[in-house]
Amino acid sequence: MTPASIAPTIRPAAHLRGSLTLPPDKSIAHRAFMFAALASGPSAITMGEPGHDVLSTIRCLRELGVEIEETEPGRWSVSGSPMRHATLDCGNSGTTMRLLAGMLAGLPLRVTLDGDDSLRARPMERVAELLRTTGAEVTTTDGHAPITVVGRASPAATSHELAVPSAQLLGACVLAGLGAKGETQISVPGPTRDHTERMLTWLGVPIRRAGSITTLTGPARPRGFELEVPGDPSAASAWLVAAALHPDAEIRMERVGLNPTRLALVGLLQRMGVDVEMTVTEVSGPEPVGEIRVRGGRPLHAVSIGGAEVAELIDELPLVAIAMASVEEPSEVRDAGELRIKETDRISAVAEGLQRIGATVEELEDGWRVSRGTPASALIRTHGDHRIAIAFAIAATAGVAASVELDDAECAAVSYPTFWRDLAAVTA
Ligand code: S3P
Repeated sequence: MTPASIAPTIRPAAHLRGSLTLPPDKSIAHRAFMFAALASGPSAITMGEPGHDVLSTIRCLRELGVEIEETEPGRWSVSGSPMRHATLDCGNSGTTMRLLAGMLAGLPLRVTLDGDDSLRARPMERVAELLRTTGAEVTTTDGHAPITVVGRASPAATSHELAVPSAQLLGACVLAGLGAKGETQISVPGPTRDHTERMLTWLGVPIRRAGSITTLTGPARPRGFELEVPGDPSAASAWLVAAALHPDAEIRMERVGLNPTRLALVGLLQRMGVDVEMTVTEVSGPEPVGEIRVRGGRPLHAVSIGGAEVAELIDELPLVAIAMASVEEPSEVRDAGELRIKETDRISAVAEGLQRIGATVEELEDGWRVSRGTPASALIRTHGDHRIAIAFAIAATAGVAASVELDDAECAAVSYPTFWRDLAAVTA
């Protein structure tokens, strides 16, 4: 399918209405497949249609010799077998590369991890230097991928101090520490999603997070498990913002992961004046799951955010910028420098896009200052970044742009393979 055929010009919707089931949460799915690969028994993972990033993790694990089969649509069986040397393609997925590097630091193998041009441009020395302290040999290509990991069967238990609040780095250190005898400690300078700790605790691994410190006592092996991966709260964010900004909107999302470390956008939108409600209806493995309902039609207030809140919103910030661009008074995002090293430089990509759609925007070193302008029609350069594509599709749908064309609509499938179908459903 050509990009034009899946995303013609996107225009403001007459209304937004419907009930959606979202793609599986990426962060949970990556970890579920890796923990299943290391587990003492077979596992079964159930999930909706995965995006390209999760498929990258599955492909890499299969290359390593892990038996993964989709036994019926949406149900995957995983059996950890002895793994082998390999050269792996992590595609566009930073989480795949960094978490696998951690896992491989604790296995006696030589594995090279590579990825697409975007992933090759992202910093890998920060994960490499942490893993070297466990005794693994980790070489990067001038600080970037391809990286080669020569792991050790008995890595050293280490105390790590992360310079940035990153769940990927934390997860990599934990994966490396599973095979180490004694306490691995990771100190993190801010909030991060806690899926690693929740899932491993559920799988019988002695790990705990107390304040900013995560402690794991090894060696430990997760048990085999059955897990249904909930819908991705970061995918829900698209519809939260679309409905919040639209005068005639009501969207419900079911079976969404409601882990509190992933829900900062809901609190922020409530502060901006949005009518949004969440209800936890069940627990899937260690993760709360439930329903989110959002209604449009209320005036939004400007907000300024920074510090810890920004770390909690890291994947949602392009959509936050779109919400801010619907308000007359200026809003500001600060302390978001990490966005410059995501799939693309998201600070400059968002600033350029906002300017093209007619918003008033000032690019800051670590964020933006943004307010409403006169909605214009624009061609948006996505840089192949799924979050940029989705944010600007939502800008047009909600009327913050007069219309939008994307240079690469297909990249939405990196995290959200059914995005265009869901957009058609809620605007029909
Ligand atoms: C992720 C952590 C975040 C996030 C990414 C997924 C994870 O990255 O941006 O999409 O699953 O651990 P950082 O932890 O590097 O900020």
